[in-house]
Amino acid sequence: MSLLPLLNDRFAAALAAVGAPNAQPLVQQAGRPEFGDYQMNGVMGAAKALKLNPREMAQKVIDAVDLAGIAASLEIAGPGFINIKLADSFLAQRVETALGDAQLGVDALPRQKVMVEYSSVNLAKEMHIGHLRGGIIGDALARIQGFVGQEVVRQNHVGDWGTQFGMLVAYMVETSKTGNASLELGDLDSFYKKSKVRFDEDPAFADTARDYVVKLQGGDAEVLALWKQFVAISLTHCNAIYQKLGLLLNDDDVRGESFYNDDLPVLVNELREKGLLTESDGAQVVFLDEFKNKEGDPAAFIVQKQGGGYLYATTDLGAIRFRTRELKLDRCLYVVDSRQALHFQQLFTTARKAGFLAADAQFEHIGHGTIMGPDGKPLKTRSGDTVKLGDLLDEAVERAFALVSSKNPDQDEATRREIARAVGIGALKYADLSKNRNTDYIFDWDAMLSFEGNTAPYLQYAYTRVQSIFRKVGDWDRRGALLLSEPAEHALALELARFADVVHQVARDSMPHFLCAYLYNLATAFSRFYEACPVLQDGVANTSRLKLCELSGQTLARGLNLLGIEVLETM
Ligand code: ARG
Repeated sequence: MSLLPLLNDRFAAALAAVGAPNAQPLVQQAGRPEFGDYQMNGVMGAAKALKLNPREMAQKVIDAVDLAGIAASLEIAGPGFINIKLADSFLAQRVETALGDAQLGVDALPRQKVMVEYSSVNLAKEMHIGHLRGGIIGDALARIQGFVGQEVVRQNHVGDWGTQFGMLVAYMVETSKTGNASLELGDLDSFYKKSKVRFDEDPAFADTARDYVVKLQGGDAEVLALWKQFVAISLTHCNAIYQKLGLLLNDDDVRGESFYNDDLPVLVNELREKGLLTESDGAQVVFLDEFKNKEGDPAAFIVQKQGGGYLYATTDLGAIRFRTRELKLDRCLYVVDSRQALHFQQLFTTARKAGFLAADAQFEHIGHGTIMGPDGKPLKTRSGDTVKLGDLLDEAVERAFALVSSKNPDQDEATRREIARAVGIGALKYADLSKNRNTDYIFDWDAMLSFEGNTAPYLQYAYTRVQSIFRKVGDWDRRGALLLSEPAEHALALELARFADVVHQVARDSMPHFLCAYLYNLATAFSRFYEACPVLQDGVANTSRLKLCELSGQTLARGLNLLGIEVLETM
């Protein structure tokens, strides 16, 4: 059991023993080192409910709690907090156990089938800066769910359906007559623009485009084949970006909007049979009393437009139904821009009313903010255009290359390029993941590429420092007990022992910045330890300290891996 549940269990038992069986122990990491390692904050609430003096009750809890072999000391502080200092021997044993475990001491959570839906780009256009955060965050969350033992389904709910595809296919047919369509498609954005120009200027072209939409929806084999070709080319662009960015998404994870097309009339009928539909201005809507406006009118969740067309929302209802009925998910994380928050609230509410979602199914919108430029507005290029993701990734690597080259001018170029790739992409991802995902942030190359502070380069460098110790030491004898005596050793072992709690927390609340903050603290604790406690003395390696180094290296590497960031042996 990881530290927090262990301490909470023991204190819950103690609270029960002193007459407060329902009180919450509320154990948390200590706010300051002088408060010990953890503090138990549940006594005040329990004492108030029982009308007892909290400090007296705290003493009773201390007398009752069984922390033999776990805590070195328990002290009452302030109005009735209990400060907990863990025993060196206990922490040493935790480190030993984690070292012998591929999971580094992180227990599996109760097994669930968890979908992480992320990236979900619209295929008509090239990937841009707006796709960065969702991709990075979703990928980290999927990795973390896998690590804690969940059956993970990655899902790329691409926008591959809708009227614009008639236009794009019509333009594809037209260009293939005069030149090379797939060559033109190399620049998806200009392809889109050119086809839009054709659509607007030539009524005959527009007619063909509309005709293709009808044929597409009717399942016409020829037009479908053309559309498939377009989708495949577009996905090739995405895959190249995923690879550069180190995302685990591939073609097997794609289940686009088109997948649900045939199901939409069936689903709307089901809503009608359940008595949920109302006609409003010719459209079919579900009225939601849960979302009233200022005038007290319920929100209208439109599922079918006037004229019969379906919408984004209808497809999402189809996806929920499929995910519940066919995939039997326990949990689904929709990693999508926060600006779609209302859509998801209304979607989940409608799906529950319709019985498309089981009462205990955990379907969650994992929102994220926007990446801003220095002017505090959404980041654009200097000329005011959308930042293309491919260009941004290339720039990250180029900037890292310049940095690495200035630090190590003598290294051969291939090595510098390889380091630059890991550092540049790592920096970009970490800068994102280390911010609370709910907030916007200002994009800053210099800050993210800095070798100091809470950045990827700092952590990657910390890892190489650990590895260099082992290169220096060579073979070492790992027999012999792990003994902690110095405060810096205790502090490092404590950080190492906390890893499981942090990973579990992020698996529960999908907030990767807590894992980043943890890794930064760990690297800092390692640094302090390394300065204060010599690992090699007079040519003799200290086994105990080497074990701390070893687990530090493994935890840093694993933590970064869970965030989708590579480590290097040297930098
Ligand atoms: N393709 C959509 C967009 O670019 C995002 C899809 C998000 N996922 C969903 N199930 N609605 O805005």
